[in-house]
Amino acid sequence: MLESKTGILFVAGIGFFVFAFVANVAVPVAMYKDQPEKTAEEMINSNILYQFTELSKRYPQSFEQAFGAANEENCAKALRLGRQLYIGEGCWHCHSQFVRPVSNESLRYGPVADTAEYQNELQRPVMFGTRRVGPDLSRQGGRHGNDWHAVHFFRPQTLVPESPMPEYPWFFAGSPDKPTRRGLALITYVQWLGSWLDSYPYYEELDSIKSEGY
Ligand code: HEC
Repeated sequence: MLESKTGILFVAGIGFFVFAFVANVAVPVAMYKDQPEKTAEEMINSNILYQFTELSKRYPQSFEQAFGAANEENCAKALRLGRQLYIGEGCWHCHSQFVRPVSNESLRYGPVADTAEYQNELQRPVMFGTRRVGPDLSRQGGRHGNDWHAVHFFRPQTLVPESPMPEYPWFFAGSPDKPTRRGLALITYVQWLGSWLDSYPYYEELDSIKSEGY
């Protein structure tokens, strides 16, 4: 078999496949087998609860209809739905969720991605994305207010005139100040991205808010 070029390529092909399987599956599984996968509820923190509560105050009627109260249970529901929409709408065709340790990416996006961040239900499968038509979103939370996201999803060009991002009017009842359950869920999801890090933009302000009982 190794006398011909085709034979060598065939053996090498199988060899690389086995190597990729060991490096990408077997080694990570062995490394993280003791670290339990967190649920959506366990991934809720004061940063995302702050945003979820803010949504309930900014859009009281829509929020009441969609989720009722701004508590942890409903926040987890919103996150699960938001993630499904992120997948279903193909957001990952244009956005990555992985800050690489090259090209000074951390200057633009924030801390380089860490393996442990992906060990939870809301990252299964991980939305690494395939290309970056738009910016990386893994540290998106807290960078813009909820109302910014609402207007941006309704019609991105209102805020960024040259934006190639599509409009998502079906997440609203006719106007950007009337987000539906889906619209609210998607906003919650993008505000959640990176909310587990100390670098979350509203973090310091939150200390005072937390003491007021959010
Ligand atoms: C055709 C490619 C494309 C698709 C599909 C797309 N986006 Fe974007 N997105 C962009 C581009 C380009 C930008 C930068 C310009 C802008 O802000 O509109 C952007 C910006 C954003 C921003 C603001 C980022 C920042 O830091 O200012 C968010 C949040 C976002 N997109 C979320 C989403 C979500 C969620 C979806 C799916 C519902 C989605 N995008 C679908 C291309 C896309």
